[in-house]
Amino acid sequence: MAYRQVLLGVSGGIAAYKAAELTRRLRAAGAEVRVVMTRAAQAFVAPLTFQALSGNPVRLDLLDPAAEAGMDHIELARWAELVLVAPASADLMARLAAGMADDLLTTLSLATAAPLVLAPAMNQQMWRHPATQANARRLEERGVRLLGPASGEQACGEVGLGRMLEPAAIVEALISAPAAGNLTGKDLGHIAATEIAPATETAPAADDLAISRPTASPLAGRQVLVTAGPTREAIDPVRYIGNRSSGRMGYALAQALVGRGARVLLVSGPTALPAPAGVELVRVESALEMHEAVMGRIAGQDLFVATAAVADYRVADPAPTKIKKGQAELTLRLVRNPDILAAVAALPDGPFTVGFAAETERVEEQALNKLRAKGLDMIAANRVGGPQGGFEREDNALTVIHRDGRVDPLALMPKARLAEALTDLIEEAYAARSATQDS
Ligand code: C5P
Repeated sequence: MAYRQVLLGVSGGIAAYKAAELTRRLRAAGAEVRVVMTRAAQAFVAPLTFQALSGNPVRLDLLDPAAEAGMDHIELARWAELVLVAPASADLMARLAAGMADDLLTTLSLATAAPLVLAPAMNQQMWRHPATQANARRLEERGVRLLGPASGEQACGEVGLGRMLEPAAIVEALISAPAAGNLTGKDLGHIAATEIAPATETAPAADDLAISRPTASPLAGRQVLVTAGPTREAIDPVRYIGNRSSGRMGYALAQALVGRGARVLLVSGPTALPAPAGVELVRVESALEMHEAVMGRIAGQDLFVATAAVADYRVADPAPTKIKKGQAELTLRLVRNPDILAAVAALPDGPFTVGFAAETERVEEQALNKLRAKGLDMIAANRVGGPQGGFEREDNALTVIHRDGRVDPLALMPKARLAEALTDLIEEAYAARSATQDS
């Protein structure tokens, strides 16, 4: 892992027990870990647990003369190459957003030049509260990176968004996309990539950190809705019309976008893939369900990326019971499905739209026609049916076409790398469009 000295902050919440496993995993990934607990965290897990797992004394108090006589809080803030708070409670996020320094953890977060990463964990209603959402946005705009929360069943018995990401997913996210520097005071969401300063000079110089720490992205804090996978159009309760899309490209893109600090909502047709870390996943089956899920959530999205292979037609009258093979011939009447991407692109003040086109011939020409017809900002086209990748494969090649007709070919490569390359182009085009809209 890029970070060799991790300061792990544990705030109060039932997910504090997961921080014990996180400590173990961070050490296994090669980091030295020092733990700071808030007062509330100590009600959930004993400090001794973290002392044993981290192999270092655990810090609890700002005004502890004995502890301050050793490594004082300013030294500790300088020592950290990364400040990771997991779980980050609603209260802690509020105090951080307000810039308070009323306990050791918030003081350290202000006193450090290291990147700050939070793994929020709270009741789903608390997470959805406008106050928490505003705090999250404010923190992200200052360059703080949020990992999660994930959705699922909660300790309080409710279901929704608010679970802390699993420790393995947090460590994986830190390894695959190290956080940007703590660019306090800059509104990262509203300035172009070229204006953003690289990691601060005071940031500690780990050998591998220097090359792997990216500058903050213009996508940081942006809301992105991604569609992925195939759709299934019911013929009867047991049969459907489907297609060969695996969903890999869309899931890889969702992951790459999270890596740039975006908040990603993934609306996916049926796939065998697990939810990427840090992504909110909504599962659907048919094109009509996908249409409804997208249109119901599109307000407030900054970008819309349509990778889904949506069926163009559905069965007009799916049979309510299993169709028996009595007749020699069977005719299915198909009707057109709504075009989700075109509908989103036609919205007044709609998001930046990226479409995909799978073509078997005259790929560039057809993709450009599609971009114009649907009114998109960008389209990524791939040739299917040939040796160059496409559906159900690990590798793919894309030709990216912009609104102004510019063409960027992306060579055959694994889908995860291709997703990063495509995200670079999306970042650039999105920043350019935002710059023209602001001027
Ligand atoms: O027109 P065509 O289906 O080739 O366009 C492909 C693009 O449009 C993809 O980005 C796909 O996700 C999107 N699409 C959609 N809804 C449809 C059909 C396609 O969002 N009903």
